[in-house]
Amino acid sequence: ANPDGVSEIEVAKPNKTLQLAVVFGFWYFQNIVFNIYNKKVLNIFPFPWLLASFQLFCGSLWMLLLWSFKLQPAPKVSKSFIIALLGPALFHTIGHISACVSFSKVAVSFTHVIKSAEPVFSVVFSSLLGDSYPLPVWLSILPIVFGCSLAAVTEVTFNVGGLWGALISNVGFVFRNIFSKRSLQSFKEVNGLNLYGWITILSFFYLFPVAIFVEGSQWVGGYHKAIETIGKPATFYLWVMLSGVFYHLYNQSSYEALDEISPLTFSVGNTMKRVVVIVATVLVFRNPVRPLNALGSAIAIFGTFLYSQATAKKKDGGEKKS
Ligand code: 3PG
Repeated sequence: ANPDGVSEIEVAKPNKTLQLAVVFGFWYFQNIVFNIYNKKVLNIFPFPWLLASFQLFCGSLWMLLLWSFKLQPAPKVSKSFIIALLGPALFHTIGHISACVSFSKVAVSFTHVIKSAEPVFSVVFSSLLGDSYPLPVWLSILPIVFGCSLAAVTEVTFNVGGLWGALISNVGFVFRNIFSKRSLQSFKEVNGLNLYGWITILSFFYLFPVAIFVEGSQWVGGYHKAIETIGKPATFYLWVMLSGVFYHLYNQSSYEALDEISPLTFSVGNTMKRVVVIVATVLVFRNPVRPLNALGSAIAIFGTFLYSQATAKKKDGGEKKS
């Protein structure tokens, strides 16, 4: 990590820069594929709890394969490690399922605009827990709040459940980050991807039983309806698979990127990712966007850049994933 907040891209050697560019490229591309196929499935099979569980299941299976074939060194797992992960995994589950519920109710672009407000939640909750932030950080969250509000009131697909889902997702991921920092202090030797792998496995066990309870009774009927709508079952399975595999892949790439860059660069990269995804999904799904909505989204995104710059002056930079 770079404590001065100077982007590693600026100081990296050409080889390293190229390597980083490739990882970022994969991360963005995989995220776009995830967002498109996730929404395609939800459009005809509106059961986000099952789809989110399946995505966590895919990630769990993927990690077990990587570990069994020694493509990734398996971490030493102790009881205390699993206990330390219970909190972060719970909040990861909340963050993921609520984002998926939001995706099922509104345009993907709107969910991502609201998700770009994650720094606001980070600053507010970290302050409540005793952290202090300089004035520029507090000022930087004003355009985020204003931009998101403008985008929300002008959103064509607006839906209260969709807005709440995205907001709760922000709370979930911020608490995941806060809890990871606190409870995983003594497991620093576990690398990011292995940590993410275990969080995914635990999240699956948290989510799936609740998913059965929330919407299980509608799955069979919903499945027949989806197949009727799409005509070809194979296409439906392909979309579901793509959403599951790419959900894991983009997270894996983001952890690979995080190993190489500072939290600050990561947080700027994550915001850029949302811009790319917003544009891509608006084009693919041909969502109508009102001019004021685009303006609000741009102001919110710009606010997250100001936030990154303001937190660069703080010792440990911006957001870091668990
Ligand atoms: C998730 O549930 O993880 C969301 O789908 C996407 O969140 P992210 O864009 O912050 O990774």
